[in-house]
Amino acid sequence: MLTTEERFMQMAIRLAHRGIGRPSREPLAGAVIVADDRVVGCGYASERQPVPAIIAALDKAGGLASGATLYTNIEPCYDRSDEESCVRMLVECRLARVVVGATKQTQHSQQGNGILSELVSRRIEVDTGVWEHGCREVNEKYYKYSATGLPFVTVTFAQSLDGRIATGTGDSQWISGAAARRFAHQLRREHDVILVGIGTVLADDPRLTVRLVKGRSPLRIVVDSRLRIPLISRALANGAASHTLVVTGKDADGARIRAITDMGAEILQLAGAPNHSGVDLVRLFEELGRRGIASVLVEGGKGIITSLISARAVDRLATVIAPKLIGQGTEAIGDLGITRLNEAIAFSSVHIRRLGSDIIFDGRLSADDTNL
Ligand SMILES: NC(=O)c1ccc[n+]([C@@H]2O[C@H](COP(=O)([O-])OP(=O)(O)OC[C@H]3O[C@@H](n4cnc5c(N)ncnc54)[C@H](OP(=O)(O)O)[C@@H]3O)[C@@H](O)[C@H]2O)c1
Repeated sequence: MLTTEERFMQMAIRLAHRGIGRPSREPLAGAVIVADDRVVGCGYASERQPVPAIIAALDKAGGLASGATLYTNIEPCYDRSDEESCVRMLVECRLARVVVGATKQTQHSQQGNGILSELVSRRIEVDTGVWEHGCREVNEKYYKYSATGLPFVTVTFAQSLDGRIATGTGDSQWISGAAARRFAHQLRREHDVILVGIGTVLADDPRLTVRLVKGRSPLRIVVDSRLRIPLISRALANGAASHTLVVTGKDADGARIRAITDMGAEILQLAGAPNHSGVDLVRLFEELGRRGIASVLVEGGKGIITSLISARAVDRLATVIAPKLIGQGTEAIGDLGITRLNEAIAFSSVHIRRLGSDIIFDGRLSADDTNL
């Protein structure tokens, strides 16, 4: 049974979700203003309305904000020099109390921005930690990025009940049903980047754009150390809707590089991974982080997924399990060098649900939620 406080905080989280589609380095924020147990204003920040959630909620509440309580899932931003800062607005609107679900601090950074003590000094009552885990999970990409400078990495694939992502001939379309494919496009919309290996481009020729739900298409990345990508591949087309970055090795062929950049794609040359002939994916994530990219959706295939899980570079696994048996075929994940069960990779915060006849397994790999 939820308390009244938790109910209002969950409402703030639902509002925050409406902001999905903004760059992941910006936290998702929702705000609910409550007077006499009644919601008098609510707001969220989104691509279309970039006004801070709290300001939007105060705007809706008008004079009813006086003496009211504000519920927000994340500590608001505060810039002392900013005339429009949330603190000034909260004081001017005579708000009595602010309830913050989660501060901006993580286990690795003390990055709070001082707004809470500023509010207390202005005689506004402040409480924190209501429905805290849910508030942190909604901003898990933001927290990981602000604590480490690295993007949050989600791996997704559709597999048969016997763990195959393609048949022995490489056929993989479609393992999952229509509802699960919409879920996959929703995941695309929630990330800054979609990444695949060259094997997936050669086998499936995916477009890697958002089509089955509304939203912008993220940057597309193809990891291709020998530049085998065909110039007619769909991941290089449709440049106006989505930009493509092809990541390759230091010694890639110059003529091939020019042919690909002539298609409108960007080439990034990185040194190979130690003990591996392919691209160093950890180094790639460091570079993406430097470019302000805070989330990556990895859509396969087996080679890239196995490398990333082996390197313990995955934060979330969202797998679609279809009620089908394929038998011999391509397994989702190859050898991880695990010989004992107590070395098996564990999950935390697992969510399981049904979509049509498919099952979605959605779990976090960091057993102790270290990102949060
Ligand atoms: N069911 C699903 O959801 C789903 C999704 C995606 C793919 N698939 C299936 O998966 C199969 C493709 O699997 P795949 O393993 O060939 O494809 P992949 O993982 O997309 O690509 C693997 C290739 O990426 C390159 N690479 C570069 N750096 C790498 C690194 N650090 N680690 C691993 N690979 C690196 C390598 O080629 P170079 O050495 O030439 O660079 C490697 O051969 C297809 O049958 C496809 O249909 C299924």
